[in-house]
Amino acid sequence: MDLFEYQARDIFEKHGVPVLGGVVATTPEEARAGAEELGGGTVVVKAQVKTGGRGKAGGVKLARSPEEAAAKAEEILGMDIKGHTVHRVMIAAGARIAEEYYFSVLLDRANRSYLAMCSVEGGMEIEQLAVERPEALAKVEVDPLVGIDAAKADEIVTAAGFADDVRGDVAAAIQKLWTVYLEEDATLVEVNPLVRTEDGAIVALDGKVTLDENAGFRHAEHDALEDKAAADPLEAKAKENDLNYVKLDGEVGIIGNGAGLVMSTLDVVAYAGEQHGGVKPANFLDIGGGASASVMAAGLDVILNDPQVKSVFVNVFGGITACDAVANGIVQALEILGAEANKPLVVRLDGNNVVEGRRILTEADHPLVTLAVTMDGGADAAAQAAAAAA
Ligand SMILES: Nc1ncnc2c1ncn2[C@@H]1O[C@H](COP(=O)(O)OP(=O)(O)OP(=O)(O)O)[C@@H](O)[C@H]1O
Ligand SMILES: [Mg+2]
Repeated sequence: MDLFEYQARDIFEKHGVPVLGGVVATTPEEARAGAEELGGGTVVVKAQVKTGGRGKAGGVKLARSPEEAAAKAEEILGMDIKGHTVHRVMIAAGARIAEEYYFSVLLDRANRSYLAMCSVEGGMEIEQLAVERPEALAKVEVDPLVGIDAAKADEIVTAAGFADDVRGDVAAAIQKLWTVYLEEDATLVEVNPLVRTEDGAIVALDGKVTLDENAGFRHAEHDALEDKAAADPLEAKAKENDLNYVKLDGEVGIIGNGAGLVMSTLDVVAYAGEQHGGVKPANFLDIGGGASASVMAAGLDVILNDPQVKSVFVNVFGGITACDAVANGIVQALEILGAEANKPLVVRLDGNNVVEGRRILTEADHPLVTLAVTMDGGADAAAQAAAAAA
C-alpha cells in the first residue's frame, strides 16, 4: 500500500525523522487555517496524490501568507496530475533550502536483499540524474539481517560523497529512516528531497512510503491509512470478505479455487471469447481451499454486482474440499442470493467426489445453472452466454 506524503510525514515524525510541520486541507478555507496554525509565515501548498512529479505538474506552490495559501490551495485542489485528481493538499512549513539530497531504501527482489540509494544531488531532477549520471547516485546493498546500523549509514554517506560538516547528521537521519522501514514493515522509504536548511538542519521535505500489506496483521493501525474512497467498491467488498478479487474489464465473471487454476481459467475464457464477439474475463476471484456456501455466496455476490458481468464461470477442482461440498455451497449460495442471482452460471467441477458433486447440481436443477464437463467446454459455454446477453 502506497501512502500519501502527509501520512509518510506523520510516520517519519513518529520515528524521530526530522520533518517540518504539516496540516492537511481539503478546502481553501482549511488551507488558510492550516497556514495560520503553522505560524502565519511562508508555507508550501502540496498536492496529495500518489504519483511522482507533483512539483513539475504545478502541484507544489509557495505561499507567503495564509491568504496566499488559500489561493494556491484553490488552484491545486481539483487539479489532475497524471490521472490523479487532487482531493487534498498538505500545508507544509516552508524551509529555507541550502541543499537538496536524495535517499531511499527499498526491497531488492532480484538480489533477495535491501538496497539503499543516496545522492548529494537530490530534487526534482533525480530521475534524469539516475539515467544521465548514474555514478552520482550511490547504491549500497543492505544486509536484511543487519540493517542500516551506524557503520552502514557511514558507508552510505561516504559512497554518496557528503561533505564532512553534514555527514554525521545525514547518517543519523538515514538510520532513523531505516527504523521506519523496519518497524513499519515497509518495502520502500524514499525521501526526495532530504535537505540541509540555511541554518544547517537536515530535514525530510518529502516522503514516499510503501507498506507491505502481507505484514498488515502486525499493524492494526495501518488499516486507517488506506484510501477507502479511492478503492474500487467491489474490490473493497471482496476484501471485507477476505476474498482474493481483482476487477478486470470483461463480461464473464470467474470463480475458481487456487490462484493457478483461476489464472488459467482467465486465459481459457479469453481464448474462448474470441469465438463469441471478443468477450473477456470480468475478474480474477480465487475462493481458496475452503469453498463453503458462505464463501461461494460472498464471491457470487461480488461478481453478480458487477454491472459489466453477463455470465459467470465457476471452475473448481475438488481437493481437500471435495466437489460435493462445493456443489452444496453453490446451491446454498444461490438460495442465499435469491433474486440477486440473475445471470447464467456455468459450473465445471472436477476432482475429489466429482460424481456426487454433479449429482447434487443436477438434482437442484437451478434454472440459471448449466453444468460443463471440461474446462474448455465450460469457458466456451460461459463466453457464449455472455455474448448472447450483451
Ligand atoms: N516544505 C517545503 N519548503 C520549501 N520548499 C519545499 C518544501 N517542500 C517541497 N519544497 C520544494 O519543492 C520541490 C518539490 O517538492 P516535493 O519533492 O515534495 O514534490 P515532487 O518531488 O515534485 O513530488 P514527487 O516527489 O512526488 O515527484 C522540492 O524539491 C523542494 O525544492
Ligand atoms: Mg519529491
